[in-house]
Amino acid sequence: MSQPILFTPLTIRGVTIPNRVVIPPMDMYCAEDGHVTDFHRTHYGKFAFGGAGLIFVEAAAVTRTGRISNGCTGIYHDSHVEAFRPITAQIRGLGFRSCLQLAHAGRKAATQRAWEGNGPLTQENLEAGDESWTPIAPSAVAFTEGWLEPREMDRADMDEVREAFVTGAQRALEAGFDMVEIHMAHGYLLQSFLTPLANRREDAYGGSLENRMRYPLEVVRAVRAALPDDVPLFTRISATDWIDGGWEPGDSVALAKALKQAGVDVVDCSSGGNMLHGATNSNLARGPAYQAQFAKLLREETGIMTQAVGLIRTPDLAEQLLQEGQADLIAIGRQSLFNPYWAHHAAERLGVPDWEAWPAPYAWWLSRWKRGLASMDEEPLA
Ligand SMILES: Cc1cc2nc3c(=O)[nH]c(=O)nc-3n(C[C@H](O)[C@H](O)[C@H](O)COP(=O)(O)O)c2cc1C
Repeated sequence: MSQPILFTPLTIRGVTIPNRVVIPPMDMYCAEDGHVTDFHRTHYGKFAFGGAGLIFVEAAAVTRTGRISNGCTGIYHDSHVEAFRPITAQIRGLGFRSCLQLAHAGRKAATQRAWEGNGPLTQENLEAGDESWTPIAPSAVAFTEGWLEPREMDRADMDEVREAFVTGAQRALEAGFDMVEIHMAHGYLLQSFLTPLANRREDAYGGSLENRMRYPLEVVRAVRAALPDDVPLFTRISATDWIDGGWEPGDSVALAKALKQAGVDVVDCSSGGNMLHGATNSNLARGPAYQAQFAKLLREETGIMTQAVGLIRTPDLAEQLLQEGQADLIAIGRQSLFNPYWAHHAAERLGVPDWEAWPAPYAWWLSRWKRGLASMDEEPLA
């Protein structure tokens, strides 16, 4: 039987990802001053056992005040490096690859943990020990009513944050990550430079599309220059704001061209984030693989590799997207929270011959179990 594309390797620069199934970044909002905890080690350990070729570790803030919430993971201190090491070591030890998403929350900083409501901090949150701070953003425009008004960034802020992305990338490699992703989506800092909904600047960083792309591209170039040539660089974008007068897919084509030129290898195509609950649960145009159209558009228009994400749940759909050339990598988010063994089950479903991605102690038992079930006319593994 031929190998489904989903289970073929992909080499990017010096790194070979053993299959195309990706666990996308998913913030757990339970870090301690940016440090991952036992919770994260179990959480990512599950995925390390789970067979996906590439495992993202959630948005890690490059500065302390760039955290979305008090519970967000960070890469703003050397001590974070040590905390991440067991996670990357386990992923690599089981034959898979890891990527850290580098992030700055911009005007969506200093909010509640998602599972507390994802809104502005309440008196109750502050009394429970959460800190608040003034977020920074391209313009002093609050995300929405009732949210903190950010301070407009000056040149010194822009230099500081750019350097924090660079230091964050270097620390990520020290921590054992195989690659990094720059978070440029969902209404957070870099995307808020891109979208006219949040960027009202009148200097060289606001106004025209070229101006709005200028700072995010400065960050990308600085990070690329700091990474060894053999290390892949991803960026996650919001391909559209889904809002009239906002960022549109055509803008993403221009951005992807510039990102490619700046040395980005893969554009991870998400959308939304500039309206309340816009990133993951907006009610616009939603349905299976509803964002894959953007991965396809950028791949076709610019030749850059793309990652499709969003409501992709079944192995057949994941494989179909690859067969149709819509993307190079397929991210499985919430479905992997539900079933961290998604990739193993998908390999079974798609009939991958000689699937060897189970951890060795499982593989031996499961192959015997499978034969045993068949001999008893029991349901096969599924
Ligand atoms: C719990 C949770 C946390 C998330 N955290 C992040 C994050 O840290 N960075 C990011 O870019 N997207 C984040 N997302 C969005 C996911 O990466 C993904 O794009 C989204 O869940 C859609 O894919 P799905 O339908 O397969 O879940 C998060 C989503 C969930 C469910």
